[in-house]
Amino acid sequence: MAEHDLIVIGGGPGGYVAAIRAAQLGLNVGCVEKASALGGTCLRVGCIPSKALLESSELYAEVNGNLAERGIVVDGAQLDLSKMLKHKDRVVRALTGGIDALFKKNKITRYNGHGRIVGPGQVSVSGDEVSGLSAKHILISTGSVPSSLPGIELDGDRIGTSTEALAYSEVPDHLVVIGAGYIGLEMGTVWRRLGSQVTVLEYLDRILPGMDSDIAAEALKIFKKQGLNFQLGCKVTGATTDGKSCTVEIDGADPITCDRVLVSVGRKPNTTDLGLETVGIETDPRGFIPVDEHFATSADGIYAIGDVIGGAMLAHKAEEEGVACIEQIVGGYGHVNYNTIPGVVYTSPEIASVGRTEDQLQEAGVAYRKGEFPFIANGRARAVGHTEGRVKILADEQTDRVLGVHIIGPHAGDLIAEAAVAMEFGASSEDIARCCHAHPTLAEVVKEAALAVDGRALHI
Ligand code: NAI
Repeated sequence: MAEHDLIVIGGGPGGYVAAIRAAQLGLNVGCVEKASALGGTCLRVGCIPSKALLESSELYAEVNGNLAERGIVVDGAQLDLSKMLKHKDRVVRALTGGIDALFKKNKITRYNGHGRIVGPGQVSVSGDEVSGLSAKHILISTGSVPSSLPGIELDGDRIGTSTEALAYSEVPDHLVVIGAGYIGLEMGTVWRRLGSQVTVLEYLDRILPGMDSDIAAEALKIFKKQGLNFQLGCKVTGATTDGKSCTVEIDGADPITCDRVLVSVGRKPNTTDLGLETVGIETDPRGFIPVDEHFATSADGIYAIGDVIGGAMLAHKAEEEGVACIEQIVGGYGHVNYNTIPGVVYTSPEIASVGRTEDQLQEAGVAYRKGEFPFIANGRARAVGHTEGRVKILADEQTDRVLGVHIIGPHAGDLIAEAAVAMEFGASSEDIARCCHAHPTLAEVVKEAALAVDGRALHI
């Protein structure tokens, strides 16, 4: 029996960051992870490999696009998909190896196997030589797994989730994507750029539910221009494959034949065989583990963070929760401000958001002022040739406090950091407008949108 102060079950972004913070604060930490590599969905089969493919496919599209207009003539650019996939795998290997190094540096003991709670302060690890672990504190950070739909036969190949879509060995002729959310749009646009016909089927009458509807509508126009086909308000009733082609059944419409199906209709909490019943923890009706404001479960000494407790299923949200939970355990204080957690869709252009959407403000009856500024009126955006999109800032009508910032455009995912920091400091739109932004940068679009809240944008 190995003893620790803290056992973390799950080595994804929430769990491994919590383990590091706990070690920094002097705890003796063990982390149980069943996959051979640390990093969770994010590093192994999510954020990082998808970003590698997004970047590579954007480069490919750029080379095959209008570079000639800029005086760069490239003849005969070809796609070597297997090399592109190898590059992605190298990126993943380097980063997961980096976490191993961080664990060594912080003297965190790693156990490779399935962690299961077997009683208060007790965890078993299947597949590892260790007979069992005990600790004063247990942190559950087991993340989430893809959801599916009734009638869909996931075969782990032709009909699959993002895991398969990150590794298709050849460019599909026709890819059907079910669900126009984060994954569907990111992976759909990757394969579109690499040459697939892509059809996105979405249940709602809009894409990207949860994002500002106006920004989502602009995104839809842009993706259609990029050649993606959308069928909105579309209820998928089944998908089957004969191993070569697939048939997707839709309620009230003709079935679609394609050669690959990506099911991206959300994710569900992962509590499989976690032994929650041994300590009396009951999940909520949707399968999430209920926690209080300090991430404590109903069982003494057992905490949970990240996708498994619900809320935005984002790596950085899990990281924040991991750190806050550990600081609370050790120092008695830890806090996450859920209002300033940004969300980013890494399509081209990127879509980023922090705070409340216009829809939410209207629904809540909050009086607000809005400032918008387009990238096309920005010198840097023109110079780099990425002029689609805009920044929208929503500020309280009375106090001018920034309530939400929504961006579609080049590097939106980086630009949103300024908005998150501003909101964390309780900034007004006037505060952002009065901050000097370097010229020529894309960040000037944020400043101009802040000026526009007061009707005084300068370059439009
Ligand atoms: P999602 O929740 O983003 O989107 C799912 C989409 O599927 C929604 O538009 C929903 O209306 C639609 N849908 C649901 N049932 C349907 C049905 N029966 N037929 C057709 N459409 C249906 O989920 P997604 O894309 O699977 O991503 C899972 C999670 O992973 C998300 O919570 C997201 O936050 C996270 N993620 C984050 C990324 C990022 O931060 N860039 C990238 C990828 C995933």
